[in-house]
Amino acid sequence: MLAKLQTLEQNSLVQISVLTSEASLIDLRNAILGKNGSLTELLKGVKDLSDEDKKTIGKAINECKIRMTAAFEAQLAVIKNRLIADRLANEFEDVTTPVSEDTGNHLHPITRTLMKVEDSFKRMGFDCYESNEVTTEYWNFDSLNIPKTHPARDMQDTFWLEGTGNVLATQTSSMQNIIMKSKGAPIKAIISGRVFRNEDIDATHENTFYQVEGMVIDRDITLANLKYTLRTMLSDIFGREVSIRMRPGYFPFVEPGVEVDFSCPFCSGTGCKICKKSGWIEFMGAGLIHPNVLREWGIDPDEYTGFAFGFGLNRLVMIEYSIPDMRYFQNPNLAFLKQF
Ligand code: DAH
Repeated sequence: MLAKLQTLEQNSLVQISVLTSEASLIDLRNAILGKNGSLTELLKGVKDLSDEDKKTIGKAINECKIRMTAAFEAQLAVIKNRLIADRLANEFEDVTTPVSEDTGNHLHPITRTLMKVEDSFKRMGFDCYESNEVTTEYWNFDSLNIPKTHPARDMQDTFWLEGTGNVLATQTSSMQNIIMKSKGAPIKAIISGRVFRNEDIDATHENTFYQVEGMVIDRDITLANLKYTLRTMLSDIFGREVSIRMRPGYFPFVEPGVEVDFSCPFCSGTGCKICKKSGWIEFMGAGLIHPNVLREWGIDPDEYTGFAFGFGLNRLVMIEYSIPDMRYFQNPNLAFLKQF
């Protein structure tokens, strides 16, 4: 019986060592150590032996069982490790390998410039959000200090969605209230997205265009913070230092309100075609957030102040690439798009 046991162990160890799949290993284990396995059968025969043999052979079988169990475990570990190594070798993707062929695809200039704008603001600690395209009359107007009868409503030719009180957002400022209510002060946020106005379309007007809104609320915020922020972003975009100029402007949700111009990055202020010989490019609306608006958000204007600004992204791209006509952006004209 001992000889039988020895042969069984030797054969089994060889068989175990050549198996490469978990399933076949389990099958073999059952065939040897299972209820009716060959080793179990040997063990069953022990009861018919003499007391003397029972001791020695029973012990030998049990020791063999321990060694076989260990051999199964060890081979299982080998199989599993090999599986992991194979997966690592086959599924490995070197993400640093340069893309070898030009796919011909590229981002729309609006997207490209928006990414640059957001990168610049992110470096200054802003969080970026997308604006809603359909919004409510309250968010688009009332919450921004523009009640129903306010003449400022006429400044934006609005697409009203009949019977719902909803509108197509005419300005990304419509998101100020939403972001503020969910995040609370202090805050540094950039909100970008499509806005819609019932405009007659020409080279400088579209009914659908992109805006970028900024808002900062914290203690002791002044126009100096606004000026620094805009100068940093615009200098990043044009790759050279630009200066900022502010003129008084009227927007119901800021006080004081300003119109912001920046020095022409193409002629450095000496006057060229792009800045219409003035040295300055008129660019955006901004100001310190009106106390009424802060109150509407539940913020105490004696504790916090803030600035906000909003500009047309299409216009920034037009200036950046000297694009003469705003209609190109909405037009699937490949000759235009392929230039970027
Ligand atoms: N929403 C304004 C517009 O579409 C632009 C604007 C002006 C945004 C002043 C602001 C601001 O945040 O403070 O004309």
